[in-house]
Amino acid sequence: MRFSIAPSLLSLPLLAAAVAAYAGVNHQVTVGKDAKLVFDPPTLSAAPGDTVTYSFFAKNHSVTQSSFAQPCQPLAGGGFFSAFTPNPATDGSASPTTFTITINDTKPIWAYCGQTNGDHCQKGMVHAINAPTSGTNTFQAFSDLALKASTPSGSPPDGLPVGGLRKLSVIVGFNGTLTYSPNNITAPPRTVIEFSYNPKNHTVTQSSFDSPCQPLDKGFSSGFIPTAVSPSGVTFDIVVPDTNPIWFYCGQIVGTHCQKGMVGSINAATSGAKTLEAYIAKAATAPPSTIPPQAPLGGTITVNGTVITSFNGNSLQDATIPPPANPAAGNASVPAPGTPIDPYYYGMAGGSQPSNYGWGSSITDTSVALLAFLLFIEDVQANLLFEMHSRLDNGSWSSVYPRAIVNTLGSMAAQTLVQRSTTSDCLTHFKKPLGNQCSFKLPTTSVDDFLAAALKLNLLAIGALIDGITQVPLSDSYLLAPLASTIGSKGRMTAVINMMQNHLAAAAPREAVMPVQLAWSYVITNYVSDPNCPTKISGMPGSPYPALTVTDKQVTPDQSRTTAITVSFDSSASGDKWVAWMGAWGDLEFTPLAADKTTTVPADLYGHVWIAVVSKKDVAMKDVPGVTVAGPEIVWVSQP
Ligand SMILES: *[C@@H]1O[C@H](CO)[C@@H](O)[C@H](O)[C@H]1NC(C)=O
Ligand SMILES: *[C@@H]1O[C@H](CO)[C@@H](O)[C@H](O)[C@H]1NC(C)=O
Ligand SMILES: *[C@@H]1O[C@H](CO)[C@@H](O)[C@H](O)[C@H]1NC(C)=O
Ligand SMILES: *[C@@H]1O[C@H](CO)[C@@H](O)[C@H](O)[C@H]1NC(C)=O
Ligand SMILES: *[C@@H]1O[C@H](CO)[C@@H](O)[C@H](O)[C@H]1NC(C)=O
Ligand SMILES: *[C@@H]1O[C@H](CO)[C@@H](O)[C@H](O)[C@H]1NC(C)=O
Ligand SMILES: *[C@@H]1O[C@H](CO)[C@@H](O)[C@H](O)[C@H]1NC(C)=O
Ligand SMILES: *[C@@H]1O[C@H](CO)[C@@H](O)[C@H](O)[C@H]1NC(C)=O
Repeated sequence: MRFSIAPSLLSLPLLAAAVAAYAGVNHQVTVGKDAKLVFDPPTLSAAPGDTVTYSFFAKNHSVTQSSFAQPCQPLAGGGFFSAFTPNPATDGSASPTTFTITINDTKPIWAYCGQTNGDHCQKGMVHAINAPTSGTNTFQAFSDLALKASTPSGSPPDGLPVGGLRKLSVIVGFNGTLTYSPNNITAPPRTVIEFSYNPKNHTVTQSSFDSPCQPLDKGFSSGFIPTAVSPSGVTFDIVVPDTNPIWFYCGQIVGTHCQKGMVGSINAATSGAKTLEAYIAKAATAPPSTIPPQAPLGGTITVNGTVITSFNGNSLQDATIPPPANPAAGNASVPAPGTPIDPYYYGMAGGSQPSNYGWGSSITDTSVALLAFLLFIEDVQANLLFEMHSRLDNGSWSSVYPRAIVNTLGSMAAQTLVQRSTTSDCLTHFKKPLGNQCSFKLPTTSVDDFLAAALKLNLLAIGALIDGITQVPLSDSYLLAPLASTIGSKGRMTAVINMMQNHLAAAAPREAVMPVQLAWSYVITNYVSDPNCPTKISGMPGSPYPALTVTDKQVTPDQSRTTAITVSFDSSASGDKWVAWMGAWGDLEFTPLAADKTTTVPADLYGHVWIAVVSKKDVAMKDVPGVTVAGPEIVWVSQP
């Protein structure tokens, strides 16, 4: 099937809608804005998966969940509570603290401000989500109950936030100055303090009160975050563990940031010897700053929503995947299997492989063969996706898709590298060879050819993994979790590629099983330029099967289904032949191949199905490789 570039672009609204559906909608509610005792909007409708973020204005409010019947008392059995959020700002601006809840169902949610100083709830400062619009339990009825509620209002006795995310945002390098804003933080335990980085090259590192500008043993540190853009999209999140004072500084020695007062505190005393003022004064005369060599420590670095697990010793650059030396010529920079991966890719991938896999004490040859095949196909995939990403990012196709999609593809490329590392780490752990590195023939004529190849490689890998998992011996059961995780990740990639191709992603949950040997044969035939590559993998056929081509298709009048196909292949094998159809859920069916090499499509297959020409019908999936005459090939048998 051929796709042109224009229809690919038509699929974008679909992708946007799908992304929104995954992420949920974020509803914003102001609390006490313009010094009024109201939540604005007072009521709203939200779907499961949506989030609601409360931002706090003048005075000192809370958002506390109640029952309908008792509007000014915390919900028995535990509801959410933002904790009190005083906002001393005199210019009417929002507090840097927000509280975000996640909606889990469509049941009504009732809430109030628990401030007793002024009886906010009894003055009608109440709020509802998904309140019925008729009957007895309307928002109006709730509001009326609040006006008549007894005083004082209640709050959870420990005063700590619960049932949602309380977050306080701190700007690092505020307005180009050597400051954290705010620097003088009061926050109850469980609050997430989110530091957002601005130019130039700052850290947030914890110290003791007595040794400013020096790291505290077991304290947090973001590492250096150099950036020229404002805001950079890089954040460092820590969680306030208790009520003890926390002291932090910027460890940049160029320009002596800490000594110049780029420091801050959380829950410092406001009087006595250990105030923020006293810490600033101590820092001014402190020896040159140092920070721990590892980063991040004690907190989470996120780059535009993607978590970076580790950039030990390096300073985090605002980079993307390095562009190839020559994008037009197609030189993507994919490190060889088994070589260390630049930690930046972990960020792109949304995380590294685990530090401890829990591999077993031994591995069987069956599993080694499966891993060797997986490493091979993941290497082809990585090369294809990196090449594609670099062309779309800053190469000949840079205008075809918008940034969000190009970034998603970059993330998929990085994920493939992480998956490949999981495979090579396992083989290396058991001292098994990684095989030689092949040179590949990857499609370069059009974006659509690239997408088609990316899709096929994904489906081949998934199909072979489904087949392979059923053959992993019990003694190697430690492999099942990583292999199953890989299937999940590749399934998601398939959905993205489906959408880029303007296909409904609904076909994605129907990935078809595929014997590993057939998958191997397809990859060798179609994507490898050196016939002696890779090194022989045990259990694979001596040579690839003859190629199988679909030369003609009969479709229903509405073109929604393929009803028959004609194939062509090069084989001297005599005798009756069948087409084996390998579909989702391990489905395997056989149809006779007529003398003119046509066959009918079984009516109960959907989406992408793999076929092979075989010399024997009604065999089990594991025996298909032994009777394969030609193939495999992929057939799209129904429109989504
Ligand atoms: C905010 O209100 C709560 C509850 O009344 C109170 O305990 C707390 O001291 C207040 N905070 C400030 C800074 O006024
Ligand atoms: C939704 O479920 C989570 C996890 O159980 C819980 O923490 C949160 O409070 C729930 N949200 C609401 C609004 O109840
Ligand atoms: C930011 O800095 C500029 C110039 O230094 C100054 O004019 C401006 O008022 C500052 N903005 C804020 C919000 O402090
Ligand atoms: C950031 O600062 C650190 C410490 O001075 C330095 O090692 C690093 O090279 C800087 N990074 C950039 C990109 O300037
Ligand atoms: C920190 O805030 C307290 C009041 O919360 C105030 O007394 C103190 O002066 C502030 N310190 C600095 C350095 O802003
Ligand atoms: C984060 O996104 C913003 C806006 O798209 C961009 O300017 C910034 O460079 C990004 N940051 C990084 C580190 O990629
Ligand atoms: C990489 O680029 C060089 C020239 O920049 C070219 O000669 C070479 O063929 C390219 N390699 C691949 C695999 O495209
Ligand atoms: C794109 O590539 C060109 C040359 O290959 C390079 O000069 C330019 O900086 C690149 N742009 C980005 C955004 O990477």
